[in-house]
Amino acid sequence: MKTFKIAVIPGDGIGPEVINEGIKLMTRIAELDGRMKFQFTHFSWGCEYYLKHGRMMDEDGIEQLKSFDAIYLGAVGYPGVPDHISLWDLLLRIRKEFDQYVNIRPITLLNGAPCPIVGGSKDTIDMLFIRENSEGEYAGAGDWLFKGKPQEVVLQTGVFSRVGTERIIRYAFETASREGKTLTSISKGNALNYSMVFWDQVFEEVGKEYPNVQTYSYLVDAAAMFMIKDPKRFEVVVTSNLFGDILTDLGAALAGGLGLAAGANINPERKYPSMFEPIHGSAPDIAGKGMANPLAAIWSASQMFDFFGFEDIGKQILHSMEKTLEEGSILTPDLGGYASTSEVGASVGEIYTEMIKSRTSV
Ligand code: NAD
Ligand code: IPM
Ligand code: MN
Repeated sequence: MKTFKIAVIPGDGIGPEVINEGIKLMTRIAELDGRMKFQFTHFSWGCEYYLKHGRMMDEDGIEQLKSFDAIYLGAVGYPGVPDHISLWDLLLRIRKEFDQYVNIRPITLLNGAPCPIVGGSKDTIDMLFIRENSEGEYAGAGDWLFKGKPQEVVLQTGVFSRVGTERIIRYAFETASREGKTLTSISKGNALNYSMVFWDQVFEEVGKEYPNVQTYSYLVDAAAMFMIKDPKRFEVVVTSNLFGDILTDLGAALAGGLGLAAGANINPERKYPSMFEPIHGSAPDIAGKGMANPLAAIWSASQMFDFFGFEDIGKQILHSMEKTLEEGSILTPDLGGYASTSEVGASVGEIYTEMIKSRTSV
């Protein structure tokens, strides 16, 4: 039996509330399954920690995280600490230091989840976003000149390296090829006359190595429109850091809301730990009320099982979420229900347990 060491960073706002449910479910599954064990180590890093220590994480925090098999993170950022400080010192820092250059965000409308567009179903909304996660518009490069003067100028530089652009596009081609899906690149070469012209060129070059993959290329503005008007055209999607950030919140809205949107920050070489987190933030407007939807965090946990090679469990978790959604009586307010975070978590756990027990008893 393998023991997986998981670093847990619950973070701020609703982060701890939703992560708690993911941990309970993972623990229950490990007990039922018997193939693995989880050893969770909690790190109380985040905005409260910052207010006490003037830092978002321990000085040697990155070193401490290195020995873990994965990181399970809730959310970072809270009023009282400027967002660019909290995010750059914790979440974005981990993504960068651990070269988690692939951000996998499934946008799939689960059975029973609400959809704001007519005719939305799992057949029409089933996309896999692969977001570049290490550079691009998030390179953190720029300058602030003549601060406060009339000639003040601020630069935010996008950085698209050959290595960085090729590896994310190649990863997307590999995924599409393996899954027998089409691949769509989303860029903006008409206006961004360096970065996105280069992106499009690399997409075309790498594409030549994958003649079996049908490709499409969209400008990001048109892509945003088609995601609503005709989402079926998107299967595997590859895009830059910022476009991926924005479009996956749009996608989340299509697939039941932010309470249902999961993500995995992957270092494919497995040289460093990968990190699993819901794509939503700390939701200060509902924090502390026990009403946050834990399903996004639970979906991220299912991505962790996939990553560890237990795809069967990953699927069963999604199936248990679908049963909870379809049954419809135990849902949080964002999905029109009255249940608490922990009631929803418990419901998924019970459905999972029943499913496993009924299988083994047949
Ligand atoms: P947000 O995702 O926290 O919230 C947007 C809206 O969605 C809010 O109305 C919120 O109540 C709702 N929502 C989000 N998650 C929900 C859930 N699980 N269940 C029910 N409703 C949910 O985005 P924001 O308000 O723009 O940002 C708040 C803070 O979080 C900021 O500091 C921001 O920088 C940070 N943030 C962090 C992450 C992250 O850690 N990965 C992601 C996004 C935003
Ligand atoms: C996300 C978040 C982060 C991002 C923020 C909090 C820096 O919005 O994970 O989607 O932009 O990547
Ligand atoms: Mn985002």
